[in-house]
Amino acid sequence: MSTAQSCPLPIVSLSKYLEEEGQNKNAESQLLKSSLPAENDCHTQAEDSVSDVPKYLLELGLTPECKQLISSLPAEKGWVANLLHQYQGFWHTTRQLQAVLTCQNHFQAQETDILLVTTPKSGTTWLKAIVFALMNRVKYPNTDNNHPLLSENPHILVPFLEYGLYIDSQVPNFTTFTSPRLFGTHLPLVSLPESAKNSSCKLVYLCRNPKDTFVSLWHFTNKLRTKDMGSNSLEETFDKFTRGVSLYGPFWDHVLGYWKESLENPERVLFLKYEEMKEQPKLQLMKLAQFLGCPFSNEEETRGAVDGIQKLCSFENLSNLEVNKTGKLASGEEYKAFFRRGEVGDAKNHLTPQMIEKLDQITEQKLHGYGLKF
Ligand code: A3P
Repeated sequence: MSTAQSCPLPIVSLSKYLEEEGQNKNAESQLLKSSLPAENDCHTQAEDSVSDVPKYLLELGLTPECKQLISSLPAEKGWVANLLHQYQGFWHTTRQLQAVLTCQNHFQAQETDILLVTTPKSGTTWLKAIVFALMNRVKYPNTDNNHPLLSENPHILVPFLEYGLYIDSQVPNFTTFTSPRLFGTHLPLVSLPESAKNSSCKLVYLCRNPKDTFVSLWHFTNKLRTKDMGSNSLEETFDKFTRGVSLYGPFWDHVLGYWKESLENPERVLFLKYEEMKEQPKLQLMKLAQFLGCPFSNEEETRGAVDGIQKLCSFENLSNLEVNKTGKLASGEEYKAFFRRGEVGDAKNHLTPQMIEKLDQITEQKLHGYGLKF
């Protein structure tokens, strides 16, 4: 029987960089080794006039490689930022595309890395919290007191690869990270850096039914739009989503890539569903721990370690923490935007029967043949 002591988990992925990122945004630039291109290459907008624009809307620091690529890619109007570009079959904002390229060019995966993969709004924040708590439970056994998740947002404790560490052409300094390193990513399977594709690092994929994912994304992106922009209509964004034109979309292709990989390589990819996590959180947590090589011992179960992590990471708990009510990411997104309702089936409160039928039809057509149903 494995115990928490015998499994390789007393590891804190909470690196110095992350602590600094969360507590002192100014330290970020000193802790990251910048690989910004020559200054002349960086300016795609008048930098002096952008101080009021949230950072996630800026398109600064594009490399010549990225600019050239963009000119050859299909583009569509974005949901928040100006444009979406279709790269390797998936849609990215300009800023994200640069980050994807930098990440693909520089990230060196380690065999012990754990990548938490999602499409946006599938429960990324929740998964990050759970895996962080799970992997650090020896160091932080007490989930009621002094746990990092009580004072820091999960996106800080488990950084995004492309959308955090490699954003704005930065190349992070990983020397302060301890093994196993935990990362989040929205990258589709096809776009993972080669080193991650070729290594035996573990991937946990969390998906969510497309109806709730779409509604959540619609709300989220409207929160990110500035007052001047106004809100996107449900109809317009629905049309885009069904055509696959959404952040890291097409949603169905993203899910399918990892679904197939999980069937072919179950040791490497664990495929989870948001709905199942809501229904049987304890069971899914134990499955996750088993997959990550650190199953709960009987002793841990008896003393309520599984329940403690489940409660700590619950929507009710995380969304009511002061840090998540008031903080924001260095790129400007407020933490509270990542917590809305956290329920299954909210889509029916927003979508017409025709919209629901259309999403069901696409899902049936694209996924049912592969045995994936919602
Ligand atoms: P809703 O908009 O439907 O409420 P992501 O983390 O990938 O950005 O996804 C955000 C969605 O996950 C939001 O869905 C949010 O409310 C929900 N969520 C955030 N934290 C959660 C938690 N601890 N448990 C369940 N759902 C959570």
